[in-house]
Amino acid sequence: MAIGLDDVVAAETALSDVDGLAGRLTVRGWSLDQLAGRTSAEEVLALLLGDLFDEVPTAVALGAARAEVFNRLALFLPELHDLPLYDAVRALVARLPDDTSLDTALLLVAAPAVFVPALLRQQDGLTAIAPDPALSHTADILRMLGRPANAASAAALDTYLVTVADHGLNASTFAARVVASTQAGLTSSVLAAYGALKGPLHGGAPGPVLDMLDAVGTAERAEPVLRAMLERGERLMGFGHRIYRVRDPRADALKAALGKLPPSPRIELALATEVVALRLLREKKPDRPLETNVEFFTALLLDALGFPRDAFTAVFAMGRSGGWIAHAREQAMSGRLIRPKSLYVGPRPREAA
Ligand code: ACO
Repeated sequence: MAIGLDDVVAAETALSDVDGLAGRLTVRGWSLDQLAGRTSAEEVLALLLGDLFDEVPTAVALGAARAEVFNRLALFLPELHDLPLYDAVRALVARLPDDTSLDTALLLVAAPAVFVPALLRQQDGLTAIAPDPALSHTADILRMLGRPANAASAAALDTYLVTVADHGLNASTFAARVVASTQAGLTSSVLAAYGALKGPLHGGAPGPVLDMLDAVGTAERAEPVLRAMLERGERLMGFGHRIYRVRDPRADALKAALGKLPPSPRIELALATEVVALRLLREKKPDRPLETNVEFFTALLLDALGFPRDAFTAVFAMGRSGGWIAHAREQAMSGRLIRPKSLYVGPRPREAA
């Protein structure tokens, strides 16, 4: 019996494999270090979705989808002003058609890319900037944010979106597959994934990494602050992983991307804090490898690109949407309904008196 489904194989997939002992992530036959920093968000989308639809999605089609999603949904932005950003993105996604076409798949990928910047600008009292379909996906996202964008920041955002595009049968991907197994549309599957990603045990961790760095404040304080956290039984944010027993390869990919951006006091503080954290964790748990995970460098990279911490989970959804859609298609095409059993532990019917 496996409560929580640990170690249960619930699906066959040709999409990605997470090897926690070797610290290796494989996406469709490519290791993450062959993809991150070398491919664009559009190329990885084509890699994931390529043989699951009649056509391979192109950069031109994704650009057109950004424009279409903006034209269809921008008028709903004002009525969402009182929702938290993530919930507002999810509400906009819920307005997309719910079928299994490539057109809908591309609208689902385009929606968070267009609406995270638009909603952030709305929060600041600014008008949304319409997409430019001629730009690359990441250059356009940064332009829609209204912040100065350059080739280095667009490349760093590509590395992030590629790095998080797919990661085995994580909770949100599993949720998407469960819904797809009923032959529901892609939007229904992706909305289930949005629900799962929102939780702090899944997509909600990177914000707290920055809160921890704020508490550290300066490099000299890293040791006393982190030691005090551990003595209080608190966890150091951005360290440890359920599957990886060695360093999370995604952390290295994002650290490399961060190294190509201009240095900042926060990045320097984080690098100094990481060294101290790893030393203290080894001291505290000599037998349990606790290494830096993807969330530590996600927080730093997205912060350096100008995303505020309350947008981090929605930016994760931008990257993971392609993976969710690929898994949903793969599951639906297998034709198998996912329907596990539960173990009843309640009372049995009473005998009639
Ligand atoms: N800081 C301090 N101690 C830790 C940490 C940490 N970050 N992670 C694990 N430990 C300790 C636990 O306290 C536990 O000690 P105990 O046996 O004395 O109770 C031991 O290591 C094993 O912990 P588990 O909870 O069994 O480890 P698990 O592999 O289940 O947890 C998790 C993984 C949830 C990510 C955990 O390491 C953690 O809470 N990290 C901090 C939060 C974080 O960074 N989350 C993002 C994860 S990445 C992602 O999900 C995409």
